[in-house]
Amino acid sequence: MHRVAASLNRMTQHPDHPEKPSLTLLGLGAMGSALARTWLAAGHPLTVWNRSPARAATIAAEGARAAGSAAEAVAANSLVITCLLDDESVGDALAGADLAGKDLVNLTTSTPAQARARGAWARERGARYLDGGIMAVPPMIGVPEAGGYVFYSGSRELFERHRETLAVPVGTTYVGEDAGFAALHDVALLSAMYGMFAGAAHAFALIREEDIDPASLAPLLADWLVAMAPSVHQTADHLKSGDYTKGVVSNLGMQVAGTPTFLDTAEQQGVSPELLVPYFALMRRRLAESSAEESLTGVVDLLRRRPNH
Ligand SMILES: NC(=O)c1ccc[n+]([C@@H]2O[C@H](COP(=O)([O-])OP(=O)(O)OC[C@H]3O[C@@H](n4cnc5c(N)ncnc54)[C@H](OP(=O)(O)O)[C@@H]3O)[C@@H](O)[C@H]2O)c1
Repeated sequence: MHRVAASLNRMTQHPDHPEKPSLTLLGLGAMGSALARTWLAAGHPLTVWNRSPARAATIAAEGARAAGSAAEAVAANSLVITCLLDDESVGDALAGADLAGKDLVNLTTSTPAQARARGAWARERGARYLDGGIMAVPPMIGVPEAGGYVFYSGSRELFERHRETLAVPVGTTYVGEDAGFAALHDVALLSAMYGMFAGAAHAFALIREEDIDPASLAPLLADWLVAMAPSVHQTADHLKSGDYTKGVVSNLGMQVAGTPTFLDTAEQQGVSPELLVPYFALMRRRLAESSAEESLTGVVDLLRRRPNH
């Protein structure tokens, strides 16, 4: 694979081929290295830096230029991409770099507040700032059919200017001028994913001691989760209209009445109900405060600690 990237790179940098924009990438961990290889394969001149030089040497052997320091790497190109462990490592890496006039695209996972603060920090240093939240794992990078993408937010102008280059490794989805929105979308989707993982863990625990092959439950579970997933559209519709009863087929009253079945089954199977209990408690609270005819959307309001702004 490395050899493929290197040879593709040599092919695409043939003098007859139009020059692709050059860029700098700081951070060559699992994700950064995967990103680097796709830009090299597409013929983008790439300058890299990594805290541990060995990783930079590996990517340099595949066609990148390894800078001696982060500051030197930043100086090499106007487009500077960071893909580091966390926000603190971005601050560490860029501490001695001159960011004036740079287009900084930060693909490091962070909280929305960290992303906003990092954007302000970059602008104070004369850079334009775009934040990214990567919705992919390294094997999905450079594999369009895998469906991975990056949420971007912050400077729209910067996003539009580098859109083609940014789209080389993985799809792009711009979600707004607020630098925190990419991180917020990223965390929202991953939070929902953990809810799904929690439900699946409970389901497997229920059958674990029975003569049921987990491999026979898995496809049923996957299909059921896919069948239920579109319910999020009704939730969105209810949140927008404020009418939580429109089009409801399985109402809150019926669902709360069913909760003892789930808790009793867990008890009978020797399974802790600790993943189900918090959600059921919210459903019951909402039922006590509102109408049995509603959907489960009211749980969203119960979770909010601050009123909508
Ligand atoms: N891997 C995934 O599945 C995945 C998926 C989505 C998003 N992401 C995000 O992508 C980012 C990079 O992830 P990764 O998988 O590449 O992580 P990783 O393999 O652990 O690599 C971390 C990178 O950060 C560098 N680093 C750590 N602390 C540093 C510091 N204080 N100063 C300078 N550099 C520092 C490391 O340098 P050394 O080589 O010197 O240690 C390495 O280049 C993270 O924010 C992660 O959340 C990853």
